[in-house]
Amino acid sequence: MMGPANSRQQPLSNSSPDQPKLMSGGNYIKEGTDSSKSTCLIFSPKEQDEIGALTRYLLLFAKYDINLLHIESRSSLRQADGYEFFVECAPGGDLGSAIKELQRQCGYFSIISRNYRDNLGTVPWFPRRIRDLDKFANQILSYGAELDADHPGFTDPTYRARRKYFADIAYHYKYGQPIPRVEYTEEETRTWGAVFDKLTELYPRYACREHNHVFPLLIENCGYRRDNVPQLEDISNFLKDCTGFTLRPVAGLLSSRDFLAGLAFRVFHSTQYIRHSSRPLYTPEPDVCHEVLGHVPLFADPAFAQFSQVIGLASLGAPDEYIEKLATCFWFTVEFGLCRQNGELKAYGAGLLSSFGELEYSLSGKPELRPFEPATTALQKYPITEYQPVYFVAEDFEDAKEKMIKFAETIPRNFGVRYDPYTQSISIIDSKYQIEELVTNVNREVQILMDALKKLKN
Ligand SMILES: [Fe+2]
Repeated sequence: MMGPANSRQQPLSNSSPDQPKLMSGGNYIKEGTDSSKSTCLIFSPKEQDEIGALTRYLLLFAKYDINLLHIESRSSLRQADGYEFFVECAPGGDLGSAIKELQRQCGYFSIISRNYRDNLGTVPWFPRRIRDLDKFANQILSYGAELDADHPGFTDPTYRARRKYFADIAYHYKYGQPIPRVEYTEEETRTWGAVFDKLTELYPRYACREHNHVFPLLIENCGYRRDNVPQLEDISNFLKDCTGFTLRPVAGLLSSRDFLAGLAFRVFHSTQYIRHSSRPLYTPEPDVCHEVLGHVPLFADPAFAQFSQVIGLASLGAPDEYIEKLATCFWFTVEFGLCRQNGELKAYGAGLLSSFGELEYSLSGKPELRPFEPATTALQKYPITEYQPVYFVAEDFEDAKEKMIKFAETIPRNFGVRYDPYTQSISIIDSKYQIEELVTNVNREVQILMDALKKLKN
């Protein structure tokens, strides 16, 4: 059923919004429309002043029995005074024929599909606006309440119920909402305290300069204390002020493609539950200790934040094999990276900064160390449940970022992407007009800097 194109940026589906359905075993199955199976088309008419073009396109979709979930018209990013259409097509109908006919009629045409097939020049779907992150937030590989048989909390019904509580918070979270505050139990706070005590003892000696610089600010501003588990909402607000990074609660394991896409918007998907109290110094999966002690301090550092976003931007629309390479680079940097500072090796990876055993081991001189080079690091295989046999050493975050940018240039993609912080959206750059506009903007920025420099000289 095709809806009327009378309102901009409104979903047009007549079906009810996705409602989670609770299945036995605490698992969620999505029902209703599923944006993972939809195909997005961006196109503009050949003649920019053509009247009635939208009606003609809508008739074309109707002709091929294609339901539209969303439609919007907007000013063209590619042509002065032009406009273009963005439509999201539900699965079904004869999409192939509609695409062929549209391609013939349109001046500009691009396909973005979650259901990625490497034909028709299709680009894998990626979020273009920060609120698009809602679309995949619940397409998780395993729900946070499901535990493996060897998980320390597997036979503990209270812990399992608690995990479901946390997973449900994330499941219902939508962009723009405050992250719900959680009252952690006494037992949970004790577990946190044990981890906090042990790790904060090691940081002065093993953590990188940036981590040690930010940590006191987190104590001061975000309630980092041995007797208090800090709230994600407070941390997210703090990070936003520092680097524009924000946190988003996540209900389970996301695919690498989705997780990395979040970084392009400076959004970090974070767990909120805590490990099982029987083994406070062990967790088989990321928990709130790992996120807030390991990851958060670094996201407050401007150079590190930029480095992380470079990985995220590189992932948008990249082919599957490159997603794996970027995820591997993420693993050996953001999770398990080492760097050299004043001639000494220090840890900046969150997997190290949240594991007292591996933190000491990684800097013990025993494991193999190699310089971080994205092209070769990206090919390294790694275990996920034991200490890493090899660590990669970055000179500093600026250097690592430059290397990642060079590596990203090797990813086969026939468009550039740029994050626009004003609109919190991704611009797909594939026209000379856009580049000219951007160069004009950059020139304006340079003028501001030159003017400031002149004033300093006076
Ligand atoms: Fe992590």
